[in-house]
Amino acid sequence: MPKTQIIPLICVEDGKLAEAGLPAAHGAWAEANGFSGQRGRLLALPGAEGALSGYLFGLGESGDRPALVTGLAGAALGPGTYRLEGVYGDPTLAAIGFRLGAYRYDRYRQGKAPPELSVPGRADPDEVARLVEAAMLARDLINTPANDLGPDAFESEIRAFAAARKMKIKVTSGDELLRANFPMIHAVGRASAQAPRLIDLTWGNANHPNVTLVGKGVTFDTGGLDIKPASGMLLMKKDMGGAANVLGLAHAIVSAKLRLRLRVLIPVVENSIAGAAFRPGDVLKSRKGLTVEIGNTDAEGRLILADALALADEERPELLLDMATLTGAARVALGPDLPPLYSTDDSLARALMDAGAAADDPLWQMPLWSPYDAMMSSKIADVNNASSGGFAGSVTAALFLRRFVDNAAAWVHLDIFGWAPEARPARPAGGTDQGIRAVYGVLKQRYPA
Ligand code: BES
Ligand code: MN
Ligand code: ZN
Repeated sequence: MPKTQIIPLICVEDGKLAEAGLPAAHGAWAEANGFSGQRGRLLALPGAEGALSGYLFGLGESGDRPALVTGLAGAALGPGTYRLEGVYGDPTLAAIGFRLGAYRYDRYRQGKAPPELSVPGRADPDEVARLVEAAMLARDLINTPANDLGPDAFESEIRAFAAARKMKIKVTSGDELLRANFPMIHAVGRASAQAPRLIDLTWGNANHPNVTLVGKGVTFDTGGLDIKPASGMLLMKKDMGGAANVLGLAHAIVSAKLRLRLRVLIPVVENSIAGAAFRPGDVLKSRKGLTVEIGNTDAEGRLILADALALADEERPELLLDMATLTGAARVALGPDLPPLYSTDDSLARALMDAGAAADDPLWQMPLWSPYDAMMSSKIADVNNASSGGFAGSVTAALFLRRFVDNAAAWVHLDIFGWAPEARPARPAGGTDQGIRAVYGVLKQRYPA
């Protein structure tokens, strides 16, 4: 088969081979190979004189398959350009799934070319492109190791991102953070050889509803003086996963020109160990004025987010949403694939969960359980950054953040993992996007272009 030819990828629901309308010889070939449409199974179809004429792809049973099941084909197929045929449901989702499944991170080694998809005519090609680009941006940033994505490099990436979209950008760095009253961002990041900073992006018509996104941008988390053990530090290049996902989401919003005024706040720091490091027992005064006793320097994400959330809140946004790889407890509670969602607005939480379920980007609401506020009491400051007892770690982290949000009409916090320990459909192992399609789905409903 010549390289330029498009290879048919015929999607078959499990048990519905007869309805696929295959030529008799291909039907017999499928049966002889025990192919019934099992989820993820690929079967090459013979053409004349032994050439390849296409593939059958099993979707699995209809009631029980991920929306982006075509990602399994994108992950498994070799180079070539493929066209979806047969019954594959929503063509936009099918195309997104295929392309996200074909994602690979190839910055440091040359791999084989990923398969390409000829996007089905009934799909929305712009929507496919923006959501695939959004996820891939997040994945690439998360996968990039900290030696190539420290605070300096991350700022450069974000500057290029802003310039490409005509977004306004303001960066406050180093000791300027103290003058501008971001004391906790400064304290967490000051021991690193690369200065801490707060990056502030804006886009859109100032008269439109204000949606502000905040992303945790810890380029590497050693734990600080409360140093992590080797096993806990190994993956900590991903501790800017909240920032990466917020940037992916911003890409989708701007590309779709949603009718909103967007602000993106990214505190960027490396939580390092040096003489200047903040210490257990230190008391920091936050931007908002609340004093915070440091119970654990490894609970750094909530400190930098608190100052960024306080700034965002001063503008009284209609929606304030943060994403952060905030706690190990989130994955203990729900596992790596299902990020806890917290919100001051239950109907918004429901809408986010529904949009996530429809786009294979699941989220699960957890409670802002006020009685647990008491677990973060301090004897000498307004609050402690780590809870006593270690119970409900994801809930108490969310409650800590809530103390810094008063004026936003609604606030949402996603405690994401940002990493796929094992491959899932449309989600290869490694750095992964979480929450982008769910949040974008709701914003698109609420603020259509
Ligand atoms: N970045 C980590 C959270 C994390 C750890 C996310 C592992 C995903 C996987 C965060 O800064 C952290 O260290 N949190 C501590 C908080 C504790 C000291 C109160 C945690 O979860 O152990
Ligand atoms: Mn930490
Ligand atoms: Zn962290």
